[in-house]
Amino acid sequence: MMLTKSEPMSEVLFEITKDQLESGLRGFPIGYCVTSSVDPNKGLHYAGKPVDQLAFRQPEEVIFLLYYGKEGSQSEVEAFKKDLQKRSRLAPEVAQHIKLLPRQGHPMKLLSSALLIAGMFENKNDYREDCLNLIARIPEIVAVLIRHHAGWGDIQPSQPELGYIENFTHMLNVPNGNTQELNAAFKLFNVLHYDHGGGNLSTFVGKAVASGLEDMYGSLTAAMCALAGPRHGKANQDSLQFVKEILQAVGENGTEENVEQVIRKLLGDNKLVFGFGHAVLRVEDPRATVLYKYVQEKYPGHPLVKITKLLRTAGPKVLKENPKISDPYPNVDAISGTLLSVAGFPYPEYFTVLFGMARVVGIGIQIVYERVEARDGKGTPIVRPKYLFKERYKKS
Ligand code: MLT
Repeated sequence: MMLTKSEPMSEVLFEITKDQLESGLRGFPIGYCVTSSVDPNKGLHYAGKPVDQLAFRQPEEVIFLLYYGKEGSQSEVEAFKKDLQKRSRLAPEVAQHIKLLPRQGHPMKLLSSALLIAGMFENKNDYREDCLNLIARIPEIVAVLIRHHAGWGDIQPSQPELGYIENFTHMLNVPNGNTQELNAAFKLFNVLHYDHGGGNLSTFVGKAVASGLEDMYGSLTAAMCALAGPRHGKANQDSLQFVKEILQAVGENGTEENVEQVIRKLLGDNKLVFGFGHAVLRVEDPRATVLYKYVQEKYPGHPLVKITKLLRTAGPKVLKENPKISDPYPNVDAISGTLLSVAGFPYPEYFTVLFGMARVVGIGIQIVYERVEARDGKGTPIVRPKYLFKERYKKS
């Protein structure tokens, strides 16, 4: 049976067949994304530019590109940077309340709670203002949250003039951290995680909640709850655990064959292989390619780097043998946790929080587009897809 939309459409983009129901809306076009796109073969592009060309640019430049949809001139980026610095002052009450949150939960629960708390003190009920304020303040929110959860005490007082990520590294003040190495790794991680098209789960959820006219803070809270799941953002934490397990199994001097054997055994035991495959991509994730090169050049002798290198080839080799696997290649999570660990932040519990800190940028900007720019400024209507009724029990 063919189900088609009943209202007249200018152009048929997609027809829905019954076997596509209950398939996670995979590939169904439902709107426009003005910040980024994900091509199955070419990967992520920010405002039309391949992400590998932007990976080492300054965070503020890339945020400008996503926010305005075009490159800023030097003076425009400078003014934007100053604006973010001015906006970065977090109300002291926000930090005070974050520090009252229970430390037992996963840090992603604290991040969602922290965004709701921030909204109670800082909400301007203006999507554009709240988006920029939150982009400017999220580094401090996250630094307070991590130090509180880890039991490390207060942050170093904010110094926004240091730069967006430099100030984050400064406030976070990681025990025994090397500031330069952490800055470089946090910047790279941050820039590569700002956005990933319009339909990834957290972005979709954030925009859906905002479509009910919930404010920016509540909408991003919902987005962070979506990001917290192991199939989505928490995959970076789980993938590092996986790399460590492989290291344990084959040892630091293990070979590709050893890794291959372990993967075959895991698959045979119906266990998961983490860090491979993606809902959209059909090639190695270009974000992963950038990170493999970076860690290989900077930390070639580190045991985790050695294992990720072996996994990068052994994984696809084994996974390709199963014709049902549409994407056997590494995704960004295969290597992002290794990057953070070897650069001096070996705290996997906080990896998804760092993902969330970056993704606030893309999701926030996408919410601004849908609420105040789309459909000639009217905004998109409330999200309300159709579900077909199905009887669960046969009538006797
Ligand atoms: C990602 O960064 O890979 C995503 O948020 C997941 C996705 O695109 O579905």
